Amino acid sequence: MRFCSLLAILYFIYAAECANILFVTTFSSISHQKVFQPIWRELSLRGHKVTAITPNPMHEKSLTNLTEIDISFLYRLHGKLPNEWKVFLFRKPNFLVVFLKDFLANFWFSKNHSKILENSDVQKLIHGESKFDVIAEWLLPFGGAFAAKFKCPLVGITSLGAPVASLDTVGNPSHPVFSPDYNLPIGKKLSFLDRILSTLFSVYTKLHHQWVLLPREDKLVKKYFGDDMPYLGDIQQNISILLLNRNPVFHRVMPFVPAVIELGSVQSYQKPAPLNEELKTFLDKSENGVVYLSFGSTILSEDLPDSIREIFLQTFSDIPYNVVWKWEGNELAGKPKNVFTQKWIPQAELLNHPNVKLFITQGGLQSMQETIKSHVPVIGIPAHSDQTFNVDTAVYHGFGIGIDYEYLSVETLKDALNEIMTNGSYKENIIKMDKLMRDRPIDGLKKAIWWIEYVIRHKGAKHLRSPSLDIPWYQYLLLDIFAVIGVVLFLFFYIVYKLSLIFVKLLKRLFSKVLKFKTD
Ligand SMILES: *[C@@H]1O[C@H](CO)[C@@H](O)[C@H](O)[C@H]1NC(C)=O
Ligand SMILES: *[C@@H]1O[C@H](CO)[C@@H](O)[C@H](O)[C@H]1NC(C)=O
Ligand SMILES: *[C@@H]1O[C@H](CO)[C@@H](O)[C@H](O)[C@H]1NC(C)=O
Ligand SMILES: *[C@@H]1O[C@H](CO)[C@@H](O)[C@H](O)[C@H]1NC(C)=O
Repeated sequence: MRFCSLLAILYFIYAAECANILFVTTFSSISHQKVFQPIWRELSLRGHKVTAITPNPMHEKSLTNLTEIDISFLYRLHGKLPNEWKVFLFRKPNFLVVFLKDFLANFWFSKNHSKILENSDVQKLIHGESKFDVIAEWLLPFGGAFAAKFKCPLVGITSLGAPVASLDTVGNPSHPVFSPDYNLPIGKKLSFLDRILSTLFSVYTKLHHQWVLLPREDKLVKKYFGDDMPYLGDIQQNISILLLNRNPVFHRVMPFVPAVIELGSVQSYQKPAPLNEELKTFLDKSENGVVYLSFGSTILSEDLPDSIREIFLQTFSDIPYNVVWKWEGNELAGKPKNVFTQKWIPQAELLNHPNVKLFITQGGLQSMQETIKSHVPVIGIPAHSDQTFNVDTAVYHGFGIGIDYEYLSVETLKDALNEIMTNGSYKENIIKMDKLMRDRPIDGLKKAIWWIEYVIRHKGAKHLRSPSLDIPWYQYLLLDIFAVIGVVLFLFFYIVYKLSLIFVKLLKRLFSKVLKFKTD
């Protein structure tokens, strides 16, 4: 106990002097924001003056050192989707669609970035007198422009795995077999086709980033920050450290340079919201066990293709368990008696209820972290980004069953459901997983704060910069070495060949002389 409080005191004394910090987030997705909120909250509590550009402001009056710039209008840009698009969104992408999805997604992100920069409060920041140390959501390098504007250190952060394009900016090697992009629909073990996909995707990512994305976003930066800004491709390599919300037990084991820091996981700072009375009563009386179904916050139930909804309804009407379904629509037509629907579910608290035995999920990282913490095994039906990988991790470690969209049927779903409800090994394995993930020297939030203050204390982290950033690509790929070795080998064999020709000629001449001598 003593030791702990001593550590806590040291931790506070060692804090950097108070800084002016700008936290730039760009993704209108609550699951991203849930990871960032505790960080800017903690920084402000430690006496730093923090300004956060966020689509999910916390509006906590007691945080007097925190200013939030609300960009929640990003959520309202969400248009109505035609049915074909819904199926497209819901379905795990195949080989070619991976490239198309990435291309389109990035195009849309750039559109959103211009909306963020147009915002009047953001404009005031850009053209104001204040200077900030900058922390930027680092899926795309656009937030780095703020750091270049204020000529101050830059910290990148992501709420999910390790995108290859982000790792490239810190000069971290991303071998296509050991470090595939987190977005690829491939699991822990790579098949031959997976390896081809990963290799092609890593080439595509680099070319797309250099030739399409950087020039496009650079134009944006110049338009809103001024023409005197450095090129975005140079700005992005000025990053001091990259914080990744990933845990090597859950995610892939891959090599990282010292400027890349794995946080493990950052837990929500909020106590889970309590269950409402109606939901609590339903859970309490479900003594046979409860199956919980939710597709997270990006795919709403109205986006669910009709055929899929039918499969769920039919399966649920024929099982001896109760079901809680996060359903945002008005009413669920043909809802069986054992199904309870509600627009909003306090998920963390629901998963903690002892009667909840199974979670049917798309496999978003936040949901996976919450369900592991509550020891509830999963059936995963992955769709986009890192979900395939997350679901595969559950299968690999034996705490879940994965069903791809095209194999989803009443039979497969019912089999998977019965298997998890009756076989205790899934529960045992998820408890093991939780123990492994928790066993680490320092909690994710403390680690993030320590590293951010480290960068502020030392005005950047040049001393941790990966040398691969400062050499040309042909040197990185060893092309010059291979060229020289190739030429030397060629010359060597050429000379050996020529010498042997001469030698043979000499021998022949000698031989013919000897013959002549003999016959004479
Ligand atoms: C705000 O920052 C000051 C130091 O700059 C600190 O003393 C104070 O406790 C902070 N207030 C809150 C509510 O975090
Ligand atoms: C970007 O904007 C589109 C609409 O233009 C919206 O649907 C989407 O949610 C936004 N995406 C992000 C990641 O903010
Ligand atoms: C890189 O960062 C330093 C300060 O850390 C700054 O002086 C310099 O202008 C930055 N360069 C670019 C291209 O952003
Ligand atoms: C339970 O599941 C595990 C692996 O998922 C399997 O090895 C085992 O045979 C199953 N047990 C029963 C009784 O089906």
